[in-house]
Amino acid sequence: MLWMQPTSDYRALTIRRAKPQDAEGIAQVYVDSWRKTYRGTIAQSYLDNLSVPTFERHWRRTFAARGWAFVAEVDGEIVGVSSGGRCRRQNVAAGELYVLYLDEAFHRRGFGRALFDACHNELARRGMSGTLVWVLQNNPARGFYERLGGKLVAESEIKIGGTALTEVAYHWPD
Ligand SMILES: CC(C)(COP(=O)(O)OP(=O)(O)OC[C@H]1O[C@@H](n2cnc3c(N)ncnc32)[C@H](O)[C@@H]1OP(=O)(O)O)[C@@H](O)C(=O)NCCC(=O)NCCS
Repeated sequence: MLWMQPTSDYRALTIRRAKPQDAEGIAQVYVDSWRKTYRGTIAQSYLDNLSVPTFERHWRRTFAARGWAFVAEVDGEIVGVSSGGRCRRQNVAAGELYVLYLDEAFHRRGFGRALFDACHNELARRGMSGTLVWVLQNNPARGFYERLGGKLVAESEIKIGGTALTEVAYHWPD
């Protein structure tokens, strides 16, 4: 477990391994973050139809299948999630960051970096050298990945909710 000290205006944050019981909290952060982040990019009907119970079931299945994740927690409430695994598409890295979402109220306090580092280190610990992440071309999170030293290595087309979008990949070596 990793602790971050409280500063003047917020409470202590814990980054820890997720447990199956966290599935609902993770699903809530995930759905809220998708709706805020992708408003105006992905079809509104698709975002409106995202369902916390559906994603909760998805995460329960993920944990049952030995998937892993890290959560950011404040006062017992899950406010962020990151997870990864074997790289799905490109050969430039063995590992991939699949998910990184943080409640907007906790942005720009170093929590995103802590969640990213937890995944990057876990991938290395599991023998997956290097990390790849895909991000939509117009997502401001690109600035975050660039700040963390990611190198732009690929571009691809993807369809989400009927909308054709471009996504780009960033890479970190070991
Ligand atoms: C991307 C995200 C996780 C970043 O988390 P965060 O906690 O705000 O980031 P941090 O505070 O850890 O920032 C680390 C560094 O990146 C910088 N940074 C953060 N977001 C940035 C952005 N959008 N553009 C440029 N730089 C950024 C910070 O200023 C900080 O720089 P420093 O090293 O000089 O202090 C968060 O913005 C988020 O959840 N966004 C919505 C969901 C999303 O788009 N996820 C990615 C999907 S691929």
